[in-house]
Amino acid sequence: EKSGYAHFMLKEIHEQTRSLQKTFAGKLAELEGNVRLTELKLTDEQIRNINRVEIIACGTSWNAGLFGKYLLETLAGMHTDVSAASEFRYRDPVMDENVLTIAITQSGETADTLAAIRNVVQYESSTIAITNVVGSTITREAENVVYTHAGPEIGVAATKTFTAQLIALYLLAIYMGRKRNYLLPDEAKDVIKALKELPGHVQQVLNQRDQIRKNAAQYADCRDYYFIGRGLNYPAALEAALKLKEISYIHAEGYAAGELKHGPLALLEKGTPVVAIVTKNRTYAKMLSNIKEVKARGAEVIAVADERDREIGKYADLVIFVPATNPLLSPVLSSVALQLLAYYTALEKGCEIDKPRNLAKSVTVE
Ligand code: M6R
Repeated sequence: EKSGYAHFMLKEIHEQTRSLQKTFAGKLAELEGNVRLTELKLTDEQIRNINRVEIIACGTSWNAGLFGKYLLETLAGMHTDVSAASEFRYRDPVMDENVLTIAITQSGETADTLAAIRNVVQYESSTIAITNVVGSTITREAENVVYTHAGPEIGVAATKTFTAQLIALYLLAIYMGRKRNYLLPDEAKDVIKALKELPGHVQQVLNQRDQIRKNAAQYADCRDYYFIGRGLNYPAALEAALKLKEISYIHAEGYAAGELKHGPLALLEKGTPVVAIVTKNRTYAKMLSNIKEVKARGAEVIAVADERDREIGKYADLVIFVPATNPLLSPVLSSVALQLLAYYTALEKGCEIDKPRNLAKSVTVE
């Protein structure tokens, strides 16, 4: 079943060249600069009236949700909040019928996410579930369902279902942005074009696995690992840290790079690896300053950078290059590269990768 791969996780990482395409198949209307989401039952009036989006999810899906916040703000101009489902369900959230709730859950069976969406029913507002499992419980609780179609995921660590969730969120953000006349057709076309190129770009990242494996081996004995990024690269940093801690048992933290000097900088020592996601976007110069701050404390910087970046080698100790693409899409590529880094680190340490200790594939208890 592993098709020659040593672990399901490695197989599933490699499947991303095809799974991403399955998420957007039949949904892109490139010439019109739009996407088709015929599964959504929301009327145009309901979409126009949405005054806020509340995303609820757990774990990796929560990281995807944070990503969704940035996308819905940028592409659709929609005020978006993201809540851990385990917090949302015990809070007193301020909701009304014009709040759109999006529940993200790969399995569709996570107890807290189900409880949170059940709490929302009282507001008689619209709900959308983003899930990978056809007929899962969440599909009966939410009014609308967007399937990610990534195929079954066996490894406990979410990989291809995470990137599929990101694709679903691009689709949703473009759809909302166009319906609300916030996003111009040409702007949508740029993103759609980059989406179509993504599978090929993912393949280019996978082709660097031997190099990433060597990089991983170099730091596999570390006690701590830090991942930093800004903008969309921030949720990518959080997800990379979660992946590493989950399967390699190394203490890892993801941080918004600007937050470093508000505490975590105190933890850096000589040789501590800091992965900086520094692909070209409007925060590039700020990221370079963060890298300098980190280097000044003796930490070692592994940069994830744009292949066209000729400068980065002067700042970082190691560089993992990802193909140049639309800045909104590059975190998908960085995430694939960092899934490989986590995988090869755990492999080097001899961990039980597909079934990490204390964890279950779907968390059906609270
Ligand atoms: O099935 P879900 O997406 O609702 O699962 C949520 C989390 O339990 C899950 O993402 C968990 O964090 C993964 N093991 C991360 O790799």
